[in-house]
Amino acid sequence: MSAVPITPEPTEITEPAVTEAVDAALAAIAAAGDSTALRAARAAHAAEASPLAKLNALMRTVPNNQKAAAGKLVGQARAQVGQALTAREAEILAAEAEARLKAEAVDVTAAASTWQAGARHPISLLQDRIADVFVGMGWEIAEGPELESEWFNFDALNFDEDHPARAMQDTFFTEPTSAHLVLRTHTSPVQLRALLSRELPVYVVAPGRVYRTDELDATHTPVFHQTEGIAIDKGLTMAHLRGTLDHFVKSLFGDEATVRLRPNYFPFTEPSAELDFWHPTFKGGARWIEWGGCGMVNANVLRSAGIDPEVYSGFAFGVGIDRALMFRNDVKDMHDIVEGDIRFSQQYGMAV
Ligand code: DAH
Repeated sequence: MSAVPITPEPTEITEPAVTEAVDAALAAIAAAGDSTALRAARAAHAAEASPLAKLNALMRTVPNNQKAAAGKLVGQARAQVGQALTAREAEILAAEAEARLKAEAVDVTAAASTWQAGARHPISLLQDRIADVFVGMGWEIAEGPELESEWFNFDALNFDEDHPARAMQDTFFTEPTSAHLVLRTHTSPVQLRALLSRELPVYVVAPGRVYRTDELDATHTPVFHQTEGIAIDKGLTMAHLRGTLDHFVKSLFGDEATVRLRPNYFPFTEPSAELDFWHPTFKGGARWIEWGGCGMVNANVLRSAGIDPEVYSGFAFGVGIDRALMFRNDVKDMHDIVEGDIRFSQQYGMAV
């Protein structure tokens, strides 16, 4: 801002001229409410083109015998204005600092805004826990696609073209049907994928989502979860299958849990068995629970993966995770598992 003298240009140093300049300066300084206004006041009343500066410049014209008096007059005036500027500047800076602190103040007594922590879904937690049990035995985790080729989901697993089991697993086929893609009806296709992508021996578990055309009700859901397991090595027998499953159920349900195998049929295992286990802490009292299927991997499946069944053998099993959550953690209604209400998940915290 340029200095605009309020009074006509002084032509000589007189007491009234000096007083007027000082009064104008002090008034402007006192009126300055912030640093910007004070900077403007300094420019107008103390800087080069200000009346006081001009009066000072007139010192050249003062006769020698009056120089001392004139010098004193102007010098004191300038000092007075300088002090007023310094004092006002300190006041303004202090006021501005205080205003800033006030603006940034935090009310430590105010009620805290609550931070909603999320929660992992108990299905994910249980899936991880199951994976941990097997990783602890040196197994690997494998994954496969949920949109699966019909060949992996059925054919490679020894389901005949018109085998009733194919219809039994109520399948979501996708358009165009000529692409032969289905929403996988079980995690068993990962058996083949694991065998095709790994060197032998193979020990893998494959947890994941599967689909069947079931209506959602208290005990069914069209989208659910399974964990598949497959082990292929030299000399594996049904005893290894049983021992592995026994360790598995004990890890999840306690030392008193044990496995019972009942003969059954699955196209991809021979012999095949229904997998039941003794649930010692079931809410309604200890009892046998039907949990899944298992068996010795069918020689045809091994051949599909280019493995010689005369040299290698192995076992496989598949269990439902949603069902496990229900009978392990006393969930009574499948709706609670699928609806995604955070209050349901939060009950489990970070462990099931
Ligand atoms: N895939 C079967 C199902 O969804 C379960 C199953 C049975 C998996 C036997 C296996 C097995 O690995 O050996 O009903």
